[in-house]
Amino acid sequence: MSINYSEKIPNNVDLANDKTLQRALEHWQPRFLDWWRDMGPSDFASAEVYLRTAVGVDAQGWANYGTVKMPDYRWGIFLAEPMPDRAIGFGDSFGQPVWQQVPGEFRSQFRRLIVTQGDTEPASVEQQHRLGHTCPSLYDLRNLFQINVEEGRHLWAMVYLLHAYFGRDGREEAEELLARHSGDVDKPRILGTFNEPISDWLSFLCFTYFTDRDGKFQLKSLAESSFDPLARTCRFMLTEEAHHMFVGETGLARVVKRTLEVMKETGTDDPEAVRRQGAVDLPLLQRYLNFWFSSSLDLFGSEVSSNAASTFGNGIKGRPDETTQYQDHVCADATRELELPDGQGGLTNETVGMRNAMNEVLREAYVKDCEIGLKRWNMQIKRAGHAFELRLPSTRFRRAIGAWTNVPTDLEGKLINREEFERRLPAWIPSASDKAFVNSLMQRVVQPGKMAAWIAPPDRGVNNLPVDYEYVRI
Ligand SMILES: [Fe+2]
Ligand SMILES: [Fe+2]
Repeated sequence: MSINYSEKIPNNVDLANDKTLQRALEHWQPRFLDWWRDMGPSDFASAEVYLRTAVGVDAQGWANYGTVKMPDYRWGIFLAEPMPDRAIGFGDSFGQPVWQQVPGEFRSQFRRLIVTQGDTEPASVEQQHRLGHTCPSLYDLRNLFQINVEEGRHLWAMVYLLHAYFGRDGREEAEELLARHSGDVDKPRILGTFNEPISDWLSFLCFTYFTDRDGKFQLKSLAESSFDPLARTCRFMLTEEAHHMFVGETGLARVVKRTLEVMKETGTDDPEAVRRQGAVDLPLLQRYLNFWFSSSLDLFGSEVSSNAASTFGNGIKGRPDETTQYQDHVCADATRELELPDGQGGLTNETVGMRNAMNEVLREAYVKDCEIGLKRWNMQIKRAGHAFELRLPSTRFRRAIGAWTNVPTDLEGKLINREEFERRLPAWIPSASDKAFVNSLMQRVVQPGKMAAWIAPPDRGVNNLPVDYEYVRI
């Protein structure tokens, strides 16, 4: 199934044969472009950017590179190939054929999930709106723009599903996706993390490491869905999402590398000395990790959730790698233990139905995945001969959703009193002076191959090009 680029909206869903749908989407398209112009990367509309554009959904087709101006990027609708005879992989309808339409009784649940996922895509573009002005290199600038255009395409992916399967409600939701804005007081984005400003590149790298990784887990669980068009949409989105996390993981590795170089040059690990050389001291990086990790954990929802139980039971949202990672795909009677706060400053063990604990199952898989980068960065630090270790805080720390909301704990998850928490918090997450320092590092570097002082060059360039290639012509 190749993608038809001669049409206004490139697609592999045979849009030309559904005139009503085609017209509705062509009506939405100029609104999307208006939104991109206002809320997308500011002041780079005429820059020529070396970007990857999907020209097919198979392995060769989705990684096609060329130079384009971002407003001319061909945002389109691409679904992964259908899997022949695909059967429902989990929940009450396990083993039955997958659905090509949304069953009426699950319509509002599906719509809410698709809208929530769809809302995060333009939100992140809005959060990163001004970052281009302070890029540490052209290589990084290009990666930012690649992520931005792909998040735009992810919005298209969700808008297609809304238009194609949810009638008038779906069209209204598609309008709303362009009307809410990140951080807007009156009409904010749906999820908290997507209203946090990303005004510096250290936050951007943490966001792509932690928050795009939440995206990966949400997409992986929706890729298991019984509603086949949603599953196929998410399967293709995952191919793009991998690059976003690559940017986060290698970006933070480059920050660590540069810091270690400075520590070697100056012969000290004193944070002030590191800062004087224009690099990010490791305790400061740790505070950024604490902030973005704890914020991203909330995106998985409550530890105990009847909503999670029903989306699993109804076959709407599965677990990542449902087929290969789990034996019991129905979980009708299965239970699990959760250690939860008892509301009186202590802990209690609760046995809950496995279905009700699905958010926690997902969160645990996510945390494991987050550990991988930390292991690599710590290896770099160890090899350089330092005892410092970067760590993920406890999943109980600084939570705003679920059982641990407003339960004061330290970084290890030990319950402490509110007064101690407030007193120690400034040492755990970025302080105003940390942020001011990071912002002072954000100086634009746009000579090909040059890097800002706080980040090491990447090991290699994009698509086998050299690191000093002019990835963006401004
Ligand atoms: Fe996305
Ligand atoms: Fe992403």
